[in-house]
Amino acid sequence: ADLVAAGKVAGQRVFIRADLNVPQDDAGRITEDTRIRASIPAIELALKAGAAVMVTSHLGRPTEGEFKPEDSLAPVAQRLSELLGREVPLVANWVEGVQVAPGQVVLLENCRVNKGEKKNNEELAKKMAQLCDIYVNDAFGTAHRAEGTTYGIAQFAPIACAGPLLAAEIDAITKALAAPKRPLLAIVAGSKVSTKLTILQSLSANVDGLIVGGGIANTFMLAAGLKIGKSLAEPDLVADARAVIESMKARGAAVPIPVDVVCAKSFAADAPATIKAANEVADDDLILDIGPKTAAILAEQLKAAGTIVWNGPVGVFEFDAFAKGTETVARAIASSSAFSIAGGGDTLAAIAKYGIEKDVGYISTGGGAFLEVLEGKTLPAFEILARRAAG
Ligand code: 3PG
Repeated sequence: ADLVAAGKVAGQRVFIRADLNVPQDDAGRITEDTRIRASIPAIELALKAGAAVMVTSHLGRPTEGEFKPEDSLAPVAQRLSELLGREVPLVANWVEGVQVAPGQVVLLENCRVNKGEKKNNEELAKKMAQLCDIYVNDAFGTAHRAEGTTYGIAQFAPIACAGPLLAAEIDAITKALAAPKRPLLAIVAGSKVSTKLTILQSLSANVDGLIVGGGIANTFMLAAGLKIGKSLAEPDLVADARAVIESMKARGAAVPIPVDVVCAKSFAADAPATIKAANEVADDDLILDIGPKTAAILAEQLKAAGTIVWNGPVGVFEFDAFAKGTETVARAIASSSAFSIAGGGDTLAAIAKYGIEKDVGYISTGGGAFLEVLEGKTLPAFEILARRAAG
């Protein structure tokens, strides 16, 4: 946007790396197009400024050098054409050269099919850099990968900068984690502590409250000395969970442990649900959701928060009998005046289920990238752009 304002884009060849890696059904139809819609502002900005625009993305995890029909961005080109209201030609074998005139946009076929893309081969990166005058990275969802189109090209392009989506994501995350309005509450839920332990450890040094949910909460219940029956948990990580609780306590902050839970005897949508106090879970119980008292306590805390970071549903919300905890938490976030940021596939599915898209401050397009930011990692795509900006 700064380059456009400075009049530096007209007539220039602009290469936009977007993340158009969207889910498709077996027939190749796009089932969810948030990422494609999120890529539109950057493309329109460049087009309006009179640039010759090339857009690319990866789709899936294809084998390099072996293009298969299902690797094609053709459905994405179609959807982009509809959203932009103009034809978006799809260009195959584009590394050696691309024909595109100012005021036009083309989509360059799945960049991950190119040999050297995944491993960030320097020769490939230099060739791609020669295609453009300005490289724009707008692919937040892929910002945790140092690949040819997310890292290498940024090293060699004459100008390399962040697009509006990447800038907005960085902005929202910085606002939420680096300079938050307090209290800052994080919800980290999901099935396993092991996949999110570094996130829990990193957040425990910053947040005022760390709400755990799902299988993660079960391991924390064990750490708090509670019985969880045959619920999903990782007993070998109880000590790590206890360390997180202790480090939060030492800072005067808390990990709220559920006071009640919703149990079943089997993992099934039609399994009878029973609400139990957290200290009354039987040996043959499976905990599938937080109970109503816990949900009400968390809702109060969320309503009083200054900032909320949300990753993960707190129960098995796909089953209606075990969805109330996640729904209560979702609605509390929606009605809270806190700045909220949410990310991750399951979280986005919960947001869609309860129709609260407009009430969440920022919904990240990142899956793995969002989680790595929560871990406190500097994402390679940010790092190289910052280095280029610093000269
Ligand atoms: C994602 O869907 O999380 C991103 O597009 C990154 O995809 P990847 O994990 O295949 O790199």
